[in-house]
Amino acid sequence: MRILINALAEIQKEFGYIPESEIKRLAIDMNMQKAQLYGVISFYSRLYTEKKGRNIIRICKSVTCGMNGSQSIREAVIAHLKIGDSMTTEDERFTLELVECLGLCNVAPVMTINDAVYENLTAEKAIEIIDSFD
Ligand code: FES
Repeated sequence: MRILINALAEIQKEFGYIPESEIKRLAIDMNMQKAQLYGVISFYSRLYTEKKGRNIIRICKSVTCGMNGSQSIREAVIAHLKIGDSMTTEDERFTLELVECLGLCNVAPVMTINDAVYENLTAEKAIEIIDSFD
């Protein structure tokens, strides 16, 4: 399984997502059904079969972040980017994902952009951070 996940991650790194043509090729290489590969891809929330924005924003929507103001952050980001959950801006600069607990409850509310973590956020801080990305 690890070899398969690594192969999928490599494809995603190269293309920014996992295109159908690569799924077909990998299925042949690994002697698997395409449906099996789609099953694996859909299990892992960070593997994508659709193109995403250059920067992926993840905002936690779970309880601890919610108790610390994440709803106002989500609303501000949605209004600022003019996109909803799982959507990508027209300029392909951002994809927004409203996600479950990121495991950083001690510094809630939390947002990540790509691999960077932003903690103890306010709506204003979140917008300022987002605007600093190309
Ligand atoms: S509830 Fe948001 S990081 Fe855990």
